[in-house]
Amino acid sequence: LENGQAQTPQMGWNSWNSFGPKIDEDMIRATADLMVELGLRDAGYVYLNLDDGWSELERDDGRLTANKAAFPSGIPALAGYVHSKGLKFGIYGDAGSHTCAGFPGSRGFEEVDAQTFADWGVDYLKYDNCFAPASDWVVDRYTAMRDALNATGRPILYSMCEWGVADPWLWAPEVGNSWRTTEDIQANWESIVKILDGNHGLSRFAGQGGWNDADMLEVGNGQLTVGEQRTHFALWALLKSPLLIGADIRSIHPSSLEVLKAAEVIAIHQDELGVAGDLIWQQGANRVYAAPLAGGDRAVVLMNTHTTGGQYLTSNLTVTWRQLGLPHDASARVRDLFAEADLGEATGSVTAAVQAHDVRVLRISPLGGQRSDDWRPWH
Ligand code: GLA
Repeated sequence: LENGQAQTPQMGWNSWNSFGPKIDEDMIRATADLMVELGLRDAGYVYLNLDDGWSELERDDGRLTANKAAFPSGIPALAGYVHSKGLKFGIYGDAGSHTCAGFPGSRGFEEVDAQTFADWGVDYLKYDNCFAPASDWVVDRYTAMRDALNATGRPILYSMCEWGVADPWLWAPEVGNSWRTTEDIQANWESIVKILDGNHGLSRFAGQGGWNDADMLEVGNGQLTVGEQRTHFALWALLKSPLLIGADIRSIHPSSLEVLKAAEVIAIHQDELGVAGDLIWQQGANRVYAAPLAGGDRAVVLMNTHTTGGQYLTSNLTVTWRQLGLPHDASARVRDLFAEADLGEATGSVTAAVQAHDVRVLRISPLGGQRSDDWRPWH
């Protein structure tokens, strides 16, 4: 959507994956403080987003209103606090009669609700798809809120959560700044791999102002190993899915924080070329994903999904320059982005050891004029 938002995919925090609908202003303020203190804001995580559960069960005089027990100061004061921390403030709504957790939806109230959000200082709207009548056309529902947001004159990132709809990427790029491609994520390896499988081949629909959304991060949640968290994070970054932290950062483990703050992986996600990566090779448990970067570099994620009868086997994975659209005889610098270490120069291909349920994220920088900005081998 050309509304000036999401020129690179959005980064921030969202309440749902850790808290569900049980949210309150004290917890949101504490999270805002920690986004700054832990260096997350400065790493790029600027949106602090409320998900479902913030409102009263009924409208008040036709307007949405915050739950008075959980948000006694009201949303404008909370948004003001978030803004005072140098962060942006996001909220959640629904295109049907009710939100997924049963709070009032915006169907038929698009204009008044968009104006309410704008008046409150909202910078980001996640717009869900529960309780919408089958007789409505999904594109109309989502377009109505797009137009209502636009009419407020306030810049608001429009994140569509239009789950349950076939092939939303065929219409979504004109309607929203991001669209959910796949089902709700869970904090386990099977869910992460299944969502990745569902996103293969969709990179062509993404670009500046409109991104595929593989759902919010589970880094720091559940029983994911550090390697699994690295895998999840690196691939969401390469696919240019929004990076929305879903952990309780008041108690997050330092190893998870380290994954979320991996600056050179974040740089792939925020790369100004704005071309999403995709799967370029798969054999058995081994996969190679890649994306072009501004200036002719390539980002590569080597992934090892091996799981057999409790056996975890390391793979040596190779990517060739031909796979990356580079001249076979070009020399390139190779850097390991989680390790933040140069691996030296290579010509024609590079091979790296990848542990099971883990990734290696490489940046390939061709030396001396071997550049090609518009390589998209999957198109
Ligand atoms: C849906 C969405 C989730 C979350 C919940 C809230 O399931 O996909 O991301 O917003 O609704 O009820």
